Amino acid sequence: MNVALGVCGGVAAYKSAELARALMERGFSVQAILTASATEFVRPLTFAALTGRKVITALFSAEDNLASAIEHIRVARENDILVVAPATADVLAKFAHGIADDFLTTTYLAFTGRVVLAPAMNTEMWNHPATRENVRILRDRGHELIEPEDGILACGAIGPGRLADPVRIADFVAAGAIPTPRDLEGEVVLITAGPTQEPIDAVRYISNRSSGKMGYALAEEAAARGARVILVSGPVHLAEPRGAPTIRVRTASEMRAAVMEHLEESSIIIKAAAVADYHRSNAPRTKEKKTAARLSLELDPTPDILAEVGTKKNDRLLVGFAAETDHLVEEARRKLETKNCDMVVANLVSREGAGFESDENEVVLVLRTGETIPVKRAAKRVIARRILDQVTKLRLALNTSR
Ligand code: PMT
Repeated sequence: MNVALGVCGGVAAYKSAELARALMERGFSVQAILTASATEFVRPLTFAALTGRKVITALFSAEDNLASAIEHIRVARENDILVVAPATADVLAKFAHGIADDFLTTTYLAFTGRVVLAPAMNTEMWNHPATRENVRILRDRGHELIEPEDGILACGAIGPGRLADPVRIADFVAAGAIPTPRDLEGEVVLITAGPTQEPIDAVRYISNRSSGKMGYALAEEAAARGARVILVSGPVHLAEPRGAPTIRVRTASEMRAAVMEHLEESSIIIKAAAVADYHRSNAPRTKEKKTAARLSLELDPTPDILAEVGTKKNDRLLVGFAAETDHLVEEARRKLETKNCDMVVANLVSREGAGFESDENEVVLVLRTGETIPVKRAAKRVIARRILDQVTKLRLALNTSR
């Protein structure tokens, strides 16, 4: 497979040489593209020596011919993956808004394949609302982002902004390059994602930190593997995943109603949603006034959707999730038994950078056989792939035992 490696101007540019080598070690052919500012930090010759190919540094070469004028089109067509590392705030903004004023940005506009961006910049620049908005646009466009790491930056600041480890970037690119099997064709996969919001009054609610990213990654991966996907989502800020029509709900009871409505037609149910366990029955429709007195809320349990599906599942495959801060496997095993699941995906949510909100996760798959399969930290899409690999194995075992 061919990778076009875009290198932008930043202190981390030197790490891109290591990335070029790591990509080649994983069997990719690498075409390096250095922006003008990247050449202030690293020499094109380093990349030429590592990749064994001419390095592109400018939109127009000295040769006055058509081939040189449309080289960005050739590069866009000949490469399967565009990786940009480090991706600066400037290039994220240009990509997000379609500004094409150099070789890398014109190639991006002409490119139709997979795009992987590994940003690196100062913490304030990374946290700036303009950068956050550009990152959101690029994610919604389906591009994959490898979040910068926390640490001491070249400017002396401490915080997120350091380019992710080159080996981690290369592993991420390689994991996503494996052709997706069409092993879920004929299956109808019902997935729940995101949090629920349980009103306290007209303007307040109880909820949790679920972003929906895990459930949406599962939906996108299941659709890519040929399944018909029904996604039931709590309130999140994510675009509808490709190939997964989404039913938007707010409360646990709305989520229950949507799941029950589609249970009959589903063959696999995956409950990644973080459903609130309690709600306020008869929450007032007006805003409650603040008083000096202490306030106590009386809460009632919400419907346990997973447990109910467990009683009605018949020969459907049921996968639950368990978000735990301790006794991870024991708790997951308890949920597996009490809710009649075929598998529980256990998340240790107390771990920094995994579980709720983050782009990555790290889970243990707990099976009926007593087997536990640890899945090491990776992008949620990669975790989704491992979960569905196991789902297809369980499906096959279930079909052959019938
Ligand atoms: O959304 P992200 O930011 O990407 O984060 C992903 C995640 C951490 C939310 C996800 O990976 C996860 O762990 N989801 C389950 C969270 C949770 O509610 O766990 P639980 O242990 O409280 O619930 C166990 C299972 O019962 C879950 O499958 C849940 O969907 C289900 N449940 C819980 C309560 C309820 N009333 N009805 C349910 O169906």
